[in-house]
Amino acid sequence: MQKKIVKMFDEIAPSYDIVNRIVSFGSDKLWRKIAIKKSLKHLPKNPKILDVACGSGDMIEEWKKYTDNIIGLDPSQKMLEVARKRFPEIKFYQGLAQNLPFDDKSFDVISISFGIRNVVEIQKAIEEFARVLKKEGILLILEFTKPEKKSTIRNCIDFYSNKILPKIGGIISGNKEAYEYLPNSIQKFYTLNELCEKLNKKFEVIEAKNFKLSPASMIIAKKI
Ligand SMILES: C[S@@+](CC[C@H](N)C(=O)[O-])C[C@H]1O[C@@H](n2cnc3c(N)ncnc32)[C@H](O)[C@@H]1O
Repeated sequence: MQKKIVKMFDEIAPSYDIVNRIVSFGSDKLWRKIAIKKSLKHLPKNPKILDVACGSGDMIEEWKKYTDNIIGLDPSQKMLEVARKRFPEIKFYQGLAQNLPFDDKSFDVISISFGIRNVVEIQKAIEEFARVLKKEGILLILEFTKPEKKSTIRNCIDFYSNKILPKIGGIISGNKEAYEYLPNSIQKFYTLNELCEKLNKKFEVIEAKNFKLSPASMIIAKKI
C-alpha cells in the first residue's frame, strides 16, 4: 500500500505544483504562511527544521523566508528531484515518516503538510516525530481532514473535491486516478479531533483549527 502511494506521487511529480496552485486557487500558500507564522511564536531563534513529506518543497519555500536551517525528507524520488532543482542549497533525504534517518532530539520543529494522510502507519510516524524532536519541540501538521459533521458548505466542497478536482487534475497531470485518490483518502482519514487524539500520548496540542471554506486543517503541538 505504502509503495503504491509513493509510486503515485512519483508519477504526478512533474505537474504536482501547477495542479496544486490551480485546484486550491492558490489558497494552500496562504495556509502554509499562517501555519508557519503561528509555529514561529513557539520556536527559538533560527530553529532547526525538518520538513517531512516535503514533496516538491512548497513548505521549504515558506520556511526559507525565516531561516536556511532546513532539511527535507520524502520517499518519492521524483518529488525530490523537483525539490532539489528548486532548492539546491537545501539537503534532502529519501525516506519514510515512520522510519526517520536522524538521531534522537535533532530538530526544534517538524512540519508535515498534506503528507500524514499518506502515511500508512501513523502511530509509528508520531513516535518517530517525538523521538527526533528536541525537548518541547514543535510538530506542525497541515492536512485535509474529514468533517466533524456535514454542512451545506462542506457538501459543496466535497462536490468540488469528488467531481471537479479529479477532472482538472487528471487533464493536467494525465493521471486521473491520482486525483481521485485525494477525495477518497480524505473520506477514509480522521476528523481534526480524531487526529489530535492520535497525538496525545506524545504531544500536547497547542492549537488546532479548520481553515474556513476548505477541508484543510492545522495542528500545532508541543512534544511532552
Ligand atoms: C500531497 S504531497 C505534499 C507535499 C508537500 N508537503 C506539500 O505540501 O506540497 C504528499 C507527499 O507525501 C509523501 N509521502 C507519501 N508517503 C509518505 C510517508 N510514508 N512518509 C513521508 N512522506 C510520504 C509523498 O511522496 C508526497 O510527496
